[in-house]
Amino acid sequence: MPSWDTIFKDQGYFFLDPHPDMARHADLFKNHGVKRILDLGCGTGRHLVLLSKMGFEVDGFDSSHHAITLAQKWLKEEGLTATISEHMMERSFPYEDMSFDALISIQVIHHNQLKDILFTISEIERVLRPRGFIFITVPVLGPKPVNPEEDWQLHQVEDGTYIPQSGAESGIPHHYFTETELCDVFNGFERLEIYIDSTDHRCLLGVKRE
Ligand SMILES: C[S@@+](CC[C@H](N)C(=O)[O-])C[C@H]1O[C@@H](n2cnc3c(N)ncnc32)[C@H](O)[C@@H]1O
Repeated sequence: MPSWDTIFKDQGYFFLDPHPDMARHADLFKNHGVKRILDLGCGTGRHLVLLSKMGFEVDGFDSSHHAITLAQKWLKEEGLTATISEHMMERSFPYEDMSFDALISIQVIHHNQLKDILFTISEIERVLRPRGFIFITVPVLGPKPVNPEEDWQLHQVEDGTYIPQSGAESGIPHHYFTETELCDVFNGFERLEIYIDSTDHRCLLGVKRE
């Protein structure tokens, strides 16, 4: 059964360009004095590279050993640095309270059932300073098949959470947030922007309440 680790082992780097809006949001972070950013589920490092190049102090973690190895290799080739850990988002994050000025997580937090996702969000709040920024993206459940290339045969395991029975991500949970639900679970944050991006993902840009 695939896991993200086997996907990266088999395919290597397959996200190369940064999220289309990342540079714009990073400019906003910079204008508000952000220095240290956590990339939750950093994968093979496309945003670690971008944000490090922009002069931020960058940390990342991911559960995939292969992804982290590829990210470290990429950073080294570019002469950049970031602190990367192998870690699962449903466990307490390995950082002190209020360690970060901003946190990004691109297509990651939905890979769990809701109880674990809520724990991840509580950890996001814990490690961010008051008025710290988030930029979070998650997939949108469209008409089946979700991926037009293949029928994922989604099996529902709870309200909003499905496990594909076939395809590249078979066996990996996907929680599909509605806009209302995404705002509700991030109610510790003021919403700056909520929108569907040019890759058809739901995006939330927010700032932690005091
Ligand atoms: C769609 S990829 C996105 C990677 C990266 N954020 C990017 O935009 O390039 C999903 C990532 O989530 C990571 N991931 C999945 N479940 C995780 C978990 N429980 N804890 C930490 N990372 C996880 C995977 O290893 C993978 O790197």
